[in-house]
Amino acid sequence: MPTTIPVLKGKNPLLPGAGFLRNPFEFTIKQTQLMGDFFMMPFLLRKIFIITNHEVVAHILQKNQKNYVKSPAYRQLRLALGTGLVTSEGEYWRRQRRLVQPAFYKTQLEDLFNSMTVVAEKYINELAGKAGDAALEASPPLDIAKEMMAATARIVLKTLFSTEDTADINEMYRVMMDAQDYLTYRTVKPYFIPLTYINGKHRKFKRDITWFNSYIYKLIAERRNDPNPPNDLLTMLLSSKDEETGEAMSDKALRDEAVTLFAAGHETSATSLTWTLWLLSQHPGVVQKLRSEIDSVLGDRMPKFEDLRKLTYTMQVIQESMRLYPPGFAIGRQPIAEDEILGVKIPTNAIMFISIAAMHRDPRYWERPADFTPERFSPEQEKERPKLAYMPFGAGPRMCIGNHFALMEMQLLLALLLGRFDFEVVEGQRIEPEPLITLKPKYGIMMRVRKRADKESL
Ligand code: HEM
Repeated sequence: MPTTIPVLKGKNPLLPGAGFLRNPFEFTIKQTQLMGDFFMMPFLLRKIFIITNHEVVAHILQKNQKNYVKSPAYRQLRLALGTGLVTSEGEYWRRQRRLVQPAFYKTQLEDLFNSMTVVAEKYINELAGKAGDAALEASPPLDIAKEMMAATARIVLKTLFSTEDTADINEMYRVMMDAQDYLTYRTVKPYFIPLTYINGKHRKFKRDITWFNSYIYKLIAERRNDPNPPNDLLTMLLSSKDEETGEAMSDKALRDEAVTLFAAGHETSATSLTWTLWLLSQHPGVVQKLRSEIDSVLGDRMPKFEDLRKLTYTMQVIQESMRLYPPGFAIGRQPIAEDEILGVKIPTNAIMFISIAAMHRDPRYWERPADFTPERFSPEQEKERPKLAYMPFGAGPRMCIGNHFALMEMQLLLALLLGRFDFEVVEGQRIEPEPLITLKPKYGIMMRVRKRADKESL
């Protein structure tokens, strides 16, 4: 006997959750408090289920995950990403996941970390050049969101292709950013898609992607013929073979996975670091504790791989920042066949919207959920929480493949940034999370950056 589920009602019965379209991040946090952890919202002729209930999450992402594919919002991404891990489904996805996974095995992480530190050090030196020695109030304001994007894009390009900031790389970065803006626009405003074929936007996108593809295919061809290939992600993808069939990836599959890793692998970490710097600017006590750890572990030297496990508070700060501002703030799925969850019938055209943001602020698991308290991630406190209360990287077989990569990259950058610079938010700006593909600050965040006043020698 099917059970009933709370249904959101509003002035417009076909679209009671108009606020969802405007801002799904805030909407789901607020409505979950009012409607509970599993409720339905009619959406034109479809049903959207808003989910923070752990049993339902586990059903969709783990127990019955084979019955769920990514929601339609992901389809636009295929125009740029092709069929890489983020956008593929079924047997093809499973095979590709097996092929890509070894590149992220724990044993590879140290090499990846060493290559990250090369570009991170260069980036930090450049930032020191921009920051200068002037007093903090006289330092030029920088958009921290843009800075973090530049830093993480360079890290992912170095670890993927062993390339550093050449003109080609800058152009690749530009193409990816423009493509992302364009595809976000198509995802968020699908009714404008026909217009993009008339106003030249689509043509420009196609031209950019054609250039981009030829560039990547050239890199792949060169790498196939390289007798001494560098130990980067591309080499690992190239040498990976299916355990069952012995087959390696085709050039097209390699292209799709490499572009996917580039796209999935930098904006998320950049967004998270941006929110971390913002939260730290509001919590001087946390900065003090963080710096005392960074200074005692690193002194004035660059971090080494073995330092990461000692930078425990640095990790807690990052985890807490991703709790409040999870870069991937939601996961969307659609059932292939009709399903029933907790007695509720789920039709095939339903959208299952798992709000990671709302789960991370659920007062049942988080005391004073709006507060920024990194100590929540101490081992003792972590033990007391159910696993699914915190899932910035998703859950189940489609969980983020780059989670360890991202965590060590963020630890590295945060330790360098806080170890070397003072940050101060420029007064009078609007700071607002904008939930598009990731949860970026809508207007960026302007901060004055200065070499640390108490460490002039650096
Ligand atoms: C703070 C950083 C990051 C966050 C918060 C994050 C979050 C996520 C989440 C929530 C998913 C699951 C999406 C879903 O189930 O629909 C995901 C998937 C994925 N992420 Fe990440 N990610 C981060 C960094 C990275 C990095 C650094 C890489 C690669 C270098 C990466 C590559 C991927 C890929 C390829 C997938 C798809 C996996 C699959 O479906 O098999 N991510 N990520």
